[in-house]
Amino acid sequence: MTALVAADQPIWICKGEGVEDLRVAVVGSGPAGIYAAAALTAHEDAAVDVIDRLPTPFGLVRYGVAPDHEKMKSVAGALRKVLEHERVRFLGNIELGADVTVADLHRHYDAIVVANGAAVDRRLRIGGEDLPGSFSATEFVSWYSGHPDAALDKFTLTARTVIVIGVGNVAIDVARVLLKTAGELRPTDIPDHVLAVLSHSQVRDVMIIGRRGPAHAKFTTKELRELGELANADVVVQPEELVLDEASEAELATNTVARRNFEVLRAWSERTRQGRPRRLHLRFWLRPAAIHGDGLVTGMEFARGRADGAGGVADPGDPVHLPADMVLRSVGYRGLPVPGLPFDDQRGVIPNAAGRILRDGSVVPGEYVAGWIKRGPSGVIGTNKHDATETVRCVLEDARALPRREVRDPHGIIDLLHQRGVRVVPWEGWEAIEALEIAAGRRRGAKQVKVADRELLLAAALSQPSPRI
Ligand SMILES: Cc1cc2nc3c(=O)[nH]c(=O)nc-3n(C[C@H](O)[C@H](O)[C@H](O)COP(=O)(O)OP(=O)(O)OC[C@H]3O[C@@H](n4cnc5c(N)ncnc54)[C@H](O)[C@@H]3O)c2cc1C
Ligand SMILES: NC(=O)c1ccc[n+]([C@@H]2O[C@H](COP(=O)([O-])OP(=O)(O)OC[C@H]3O[C@@H](n4cnc5c(N)ncnc54)[C@H](OP(=O)(O)O)[C@@H]3O)[C@@H](O)[C@H]2O)c1
Repeated sequence: MTALVAADQPIWICKGEGVEDLRVAVVGSGPAGIYAAAALTAHEDAAVDVIDRLPTPFGLVRYGVAPDHEKMKSVAGALRKVLEHERVRFLGNIELGADVTVADLHRHYDAIVVANGAAVDRRLRIGGEDLPGSFSATEFVSWYSGHPDAALDKFTLTARTVIVIGVGNVAIDVARVLLKTAGELRPTDIPDHVLAVLSHSQVRDVMIIGRRGPAHAKFTTKELRELGELANADVVVQPEELVLDEASEAELATNTVARRNFEVLRAWSERTRQGRPRRLHLRFWLRPAAIHGDGLVTGMEFARGRADGAGGVADPGDPVHLPADMVLRSVGYRGLPVPGLPFDDQRGVIPNAAGRILRDGSVVPGEYVAGWIKRGPSGVIGTNKHDATETVRCVLEDARALPRREVRDPHGIIDLLHQRGVRVVPWEGWEAIEALEIAAGRRRGAKQVKVADRELLLAAALSQPSPRI
């Protein structure tokens, strides 16, 4: 897996000689936005406002990375140093396209870097996708991560058998959370209401299902191996599904991760079950055809895949029916269009050239993009560092030629938002949320426990005066 950026590793490397007094709005405080802010502050005349629609920073580091991956989550420590920089302001609870427009940002900043991620799920486009009991992994992740947009009672986990479609790392995350015991998750930052549901979970069998063969699974090996260490669940792999066609052989010959994954799966296929209370089944060559139900999900129909010789699956395969009470579709994320900005609907990204936003194929001075909304929803946290650095290099190359902002006063944007009734959350507001969560953690024997309710978050955040806002 791509390495995390260590807290002590320098993350700014751009130069922009001859640029004076550059004010930049970075939209999105996920890894891409924060790495962009870090690279910008390397230029001593640049000041950055990092704007987020949520009252909390860190994007998917807070609302995506699984609660039991505490080491991974600790990257937030390095990211927070950037937001604490003297020339960076965090401005939370401001949504681009709702509270503030692209035109507003152009009046108040010399450049805009959009890093708003890819917030929604891709669709399977099969019958029954919207049946009660069929959810996207995005919904499940948001719920267990305590995202303020997720209804607290969204999941009850009365299902005994859960199908997870897709063989990527998000599928592994959701399966692992379903299979761990509430006791194992108690020391993490998982919200109290989620822990309560997990402690009564009826889940016994989780099936992770790939439409292609094991050589084409997108898992990283460390994440895959972790499934074999679950205290409460046996891993079941069917040896006959570890077949290798020509394309799979070629993949294994050239892709080390695929080869290591395959070895892990082969070892599991030879394992004897230990009789643990839950089971994780890893299945392959099953292409989703329909989700069945009678008001509630009862199972899924698949076409059994046959290799097409090119790493894909030839149609039509034999039908296979698998009973299930819940389906989680984990087939990738998708960006959303922002009013006032161009959008490539097919790819779900903002069209760009190395980070410069393209409108009708032409670069617009002062508009840039970084992260998942720039390149699509793939890559680990560290991938966004290189990506954001490329974007900031463009900003700094263009800086001297950019049309200068109309409003010179840095407080102007705050005044505008206050006039509109927007409750801007400053950095001190986030610190107050953290203090609330640390206190909640103390009560549960955890370092920090997330608060999910938006109004509670805002009440804590707005109780703090900010010297800079
Ligand atoms: C479930 C899941 C688990 C993951 N786990 C790991 C892991 O363990 N390790 C790893 O290395 N990588 C992991 N990743 C990948 C990693 O999280 C991404 O590479 C990274 O977060 C993408 O960064 P980003 O800044 O582009 O987007 P995001 O992290 O999504 O940040 C986007 C930010 O923009 C804000 N925003 C959105 N719309 C607006 C708007 N209109 N106005 C203002 N703000 C807006 C959002 O609130 C958010 O804060 C995971 C991804 C997922 C989906
Ligand atoms: N711990 C970590 O490091 C971690 C944790 C979570 C996420 N992440 C990263 O975040 C990114 C997103 O992860 P992800 O799991 O959402 O995406 P992903 O890695 O792209 O995996 C998506 C999976 O969905 C499958 N799929 C797509 N369309 C399908 C369809 N119509 N029917 C059946 N299957 C379909 C894909 O199969 P095909 O290959 O056949 O298209 C693939 O197996 C990845 O880069 C991932 O590594 C990292």
